[in-house]
Amino acid sequence: MIDRAGLHEWRVIGAARPALPLLLTAGRLATPLRKVPRLGWVVADPVTARTILNDPAHFNLLGEGGVGHMWAQLLGDWVNDVFDGPGHHSLRKQTRDLFTEESAKRLADRVLGPRLAEAGADLAAGRTVDVADLARVLVGRIVADLLHLHTAGTDQSYREIFATGEQLATLALHASTSTHLAPSTITRGREIVARLTANVPEAFRTAPPTTVLGRCRELGVEQQHAQGLSTLLMVAGTETAASAMARIVALLHDTGAQHDVLKDQELIPDAVREGLRVTTPAAAIGRSVTADVTIAGRTLRAGERVLILTHAANNRVGGFSLDRGYLPEQRQLWFGAGRHLCLGAPLARAEIGGLLRMVAGSGRSWTIRGRRYRRRVLIPSYESLPVTLAPAGP
Ligand code: HEM
Repeated sequence: MIDRAGLHEWRVIGAARPALPLLLTAGRLATPLRKVPRLGWVVADPVTARTILNDPAHFNLLGEGGVGHMWAQLLGDWVNDVFDGPGHHSLRKQTRDLFTEESAKRLADRVLGPRLAEAGADLAAGRTVDVADLARVLVGRIVADLLHLHTAGTDQSYREIFATGEQLATLALHASTSTHLAPSTITRGREIVARLTANVPEAFRTAPPTTVLGRCRELGVEQQHAQGLSTLLMVAGTETAASAMARIVALLHDTGAQHDVLKDQELIPDAVREGLRVTTPAAAIGRSVTADVTIAGRTLRAGERVLILTHAANNRVGGFSLDRGYLPEQRQLWFGAGRHLCLGAPLARAEIGGLLRMVAGSGRSWTIRGRRYRRRVLIPSYESLPVTLAPAGP
């Protein structure tokens, strides 16, 4: 039976893409994998998913159905090398320690700390904080910092950055059945990329080595690749992180697990991991088959598409529970696996952990005062999630 927390999660998902709840529910039958008309091979089994993601000899994300196919049309053919060719391996090697747990935490503390403190003070004073809006502002701050964007420093300026990143990601929404983009979409996408990365060339030359772009320069990453990486960081790390932040605050509330976290804040990393499993903001990952291969007795042919339903694979074991612990089959499939494993995973964890520490920091329980779900977006999210704290004790 679906519980209250699960019901809200399905509403978040259905508002983003009305067909997605059906796909994810029916997709659970795709174990280990099943061929579905128009979609190609659908996979909802975590072990099969990982087998595919760890097999670059037979799968990539450059062909029809993969995200690199879309990016090559927007950014240029060099993407083929950097996204999944030999250039990808050297870029990942060079940037391996770009976001460590330590550096990600430092970045989150520096860029988000002051705004989180302000929100914490608002909550403590009895004011309502819209956690979904705050998450977009926080993510906008990170993007502005990483891409050296000049901003007015107001919440509104960061909301606008978030919205621009979202526009770019939304192009992928229309590419969910085909990754061939229309000429008008390519023009619009290129305009957005140019706007968001306008300061990257200068920052690449001048930024101190403590910043991501300065670091890329010191590591010998080519400027064009650093610009591509910047675009990727923004698209991959914007909606996903904001989605997880608000949804995990809601999950802790809806399951009552907030009371455990309020008693013992050491549980916050568990809440982050379990929240990421249940929400799996990147609900599906696409790949194309580059050479015939047999998996679990089924033969996949070169040129076919694979849709890995990570959300279904991660949620097979059940709903949110702080006691669940580490799951060896799922591992951290919400961040993908193999050579494209999320580069920003430590940063995402630091952002979500920072928000949870702020909400739980005073030790007072929180109540959700209303909710709206974001409609027609790539990554299912709350539009608004106003939260208040219980009154302070005597
Ligand atoms: C909760 C937040 C996040 C989730 C759920 C998430 C999820 C993912 C997933 C599933 C992939 C693999 C996609 C594939 O294999 O096709 C990925 C890749 C990536 N993510 Fe994240 N991500 C998050 C946050 C971030 C952040 C904050 C950043 C950086 C600012 C980031 C940067 C990247 C990059 C650069 C890649 C591409 C890596 C490559 O192709 O080698 N992500 N992410």
